Amino acid sequence: MARYPTLFSPGRLGRQALRNRAIVSPLTRASATEDGLVTDQMRDYYADYARGGWGLVMTEAVYIDLKYSQGYKYQPGIGSDRQQESWRKVVDAIHAEGSPAFMQIFHCGAINQGNNWVEGSIAPSVFTPRGKQIDRYRGSGTLFQTPREITRDEMAEVVASYADAARRAAELGFDGIEVHGANGYLPDQFLTVHTNLRTDEYNGTVKNRIRFHCEVMRGVRAAVPDRPVGVRISQTKVNDFDYVWPGGEADAGAIFLALAKTGIDFIDISAHLGVTPVFGCADSLSGLAKKHSGLPVIANGKLQDPAVAEAALTGGQGDFCCIGKGALADPHWAAKIERGAAPIAFDPGMITPYATLDNYYGWRKANPSGVSAVKAVARDRAEAV
Ligand SMILES: Cc1cc2nc3c(=O)[nH]c(=O)nc-3n(C[C@H](O)[C@H](O)[C@H](O)COP(=O)(O)O)c2cc1C
Repeated sequence: MARYPTLFSPGRLGRQALRNRAIVSPLTRASATEDGLVTDQMRDYYADYARGGWGLVMTEAVYIDLKYSQGYKYQPGIGSDRQQESWRKVVDAIHAEGSPAFMQIFHCGAINQGNNWVEGSIAPSVFTPRGKQIDRYRGSGTLFQTPREITRDEMAEVVASYADAARRAAELGFDGIEVHGANGYLPDQFLTVHTNLRTDEYNGTVKNRIRFHCEVMRGVRAAVPDRPVGVRISQTKVNDFDYVWPGGEADAGAIFLALAKTGIDFIDISAHLGVTPVFGCADSLSGLAKKHSGLPVIANGKLQDPAVAEAALTGGQGDFCCIGKGALADPHWAAKIERGAAPIAFDPGMITPYATLDNYYGWRKANPSGVSAVKAVARDRAEAV
């Protein structure tokens, strides 16, 4: 019997069959061209995941228009014909290795630290974003700029751009779409009380604060009726690690039910702190998503220990596991775990100073055994005393 029988059992996201339940988590690598085109290096990077034994390869966050959606320098986009076409080699390379591919689509809202197309940023309201620009995506270490309030016309345009991006991805052959509704970006700014100061029907109650997510998901659902569509949700944010939904489990119930009603196929719960109980109840956020939405749920957060991933699945905390830093460290994590080999462990040097592919491959070259030379020396010293 396999060592992790549930993790390595087949599953289904909408119409898409997955050979196992291990998914490559979306990982921004800021390695596209300045104008958001996908490079050959990125094609090879994704093809390597596709050879790595995963049930599904999810792309990094891809911006949806040539306006305010780009948040990071060298982030890839899918807002123009050229950008769309540049993804073709990636989806073809992933398929050639026999793996399905989903694209994560993205709008940064206020968390904009590098946009090739416009000056300024838009958000549900005018507010001062918490935290500082993120170094590993070439942030300047300074505060984020203050956004202006998005107009109602722009909100409709952004919903249409998500739908267009999904249609463009599907045209290329991407097998499914995930909307990045988590981690503090535009949709999450509507859901979060201190970034949504509106006085209209997009604020006031949790049902109102999840309204924008639901509009986006309905738009995407309608644009690609034959593909699995899902949304990523979180409490915490890249610029605010401690945020929790103020209404606790009641908020979770309202959020997951509202999302399920949009006709989507799955929910992905991003939780960098791990699949741990929330709101004083027995379940993690992904467990609550399963209970309240009735949809397949992808659990995430510190699941690179396969025993923890297996326990999350058997314990009702998710139907799939997406692996972030473990996948980044070793694109063949899934294949190695399945055959009982040790994957390369994550080392902060892989994303320091930048989370780019050049930086990662440089780290691998400098550490051919897959163990940081610095750490190995430290360990040898520790063993010597
Ligand atoms: C370098 C890096 C880039 C990331 N980029 C994205 C992204 O593009 N979209 C997203 O939803 N999450 C992104 N994340 C979050 C991961 O997908 C994942 O949720 C997080 O790392 C927690 O999972 P882990 O404990 O398995 O690493 C990123 C994380 C890292 C470390």
